[in-house]
Amino acid sequence: MEEALIAGIDKERLPQHIAIIMDGNGRWAEEKGQDRLYGHFHGVESVRNIVEGCAELGIHYLTLYAFSTENWDRPQQEVEGLMSLLVDTIRKEVPTLNKNNIRLHVIGDMNMLPEFAHTELQEALQLTSGNTGLNLVMALSYSSRWELVNAVKNIGIDVKAGKIDPAAITHETLEKYLTTSEFPDPELMIRTSGEYRISNFLLYQLAYAELYFTNTRWPDFRKKNLYEAIIDFQGRERRFGKTGQQIQEETQLA
Ligand code: IPE
Ligand code: IPE
Ligand code: MG
Repeated sequence: MEEALIAGIDKERLPQHIAIIMDGNGRWAEEKGQDRLYGHFHGVESVRNIVEGCAELGIHYLTLYAFSTENWDRPQQEVEGLMSLLVDTIRKEVPTLNKNNIRLHVIGDMNMLPEFAHTELQEALQLTSGNTGLNLVMALSYSSRWELVNAVKNIGIDVKAGKIDPAAITHETLEKYLTTSEFPDPELMIRTSGEYRISNFLLYQLAYAELYFTNTRWPDFRKKNLYEAIIDFQGRERRFGKTGQQIQEETQLA
């Protein structure tokens, strides 16, 4: 089953960057009569599986939305449990990341994180910084509006300091001030658990991403589901504002 799916993927046309809103941990747990944290705990298994799947396929960037700025407003017990789980997992996974040549990155408002999380994350970033395979970007305490406001603030500071001329600002200028400045835009965005929204995730960067929604809850999402999403992505025509005919002519020329 999995082999058949993987054979259906065109290795020449893989998305270089996949972004995932890992949603549905809480519902998954509640449906089993368990505490929400039980769902987050099982969600980690899916993270491992999908990171491995992306590395095997040769995907260059995988961004995982693990905790949003708005998630700080959840009940304190869930926030604390989730934070410790995330930081603990990242620390424990460092040897595996190194073994698989995976480089860890973090995007988000690090000032909101407790001190212990800060230190652990810095260490993990440092320890994997020499890896050249998959770039794993964890969006932690991230929200797009926070990121954009922050970028505008910093542009303002640099304009005031005379470092940039407001008249010369282009989309490339803005992109340099985003937390994702080192990464290409995602081509495929997956959201699990049947919710059809973006929830403040990469609003700018997803401008031309193909969106894929599945009812599968995150703790049930495995490589097979990832392959299905990629196959679906490869069946689409990405037009970037042009006509279908123009795109077909360009592909024939290439
Ligand atoms: C996604 O699962 C993980 C985080 C947002 C941290 P949820 O916790 O949002 O699960 P549901 O959507 O309530 O089921
Ligand atoms: C988005 O999921 C954030 C993460 C997956 C980390 P939420 O569950 O927080 O989003 P809403 O509240 O359903 O929009
Ligand atoms: Mg949710």
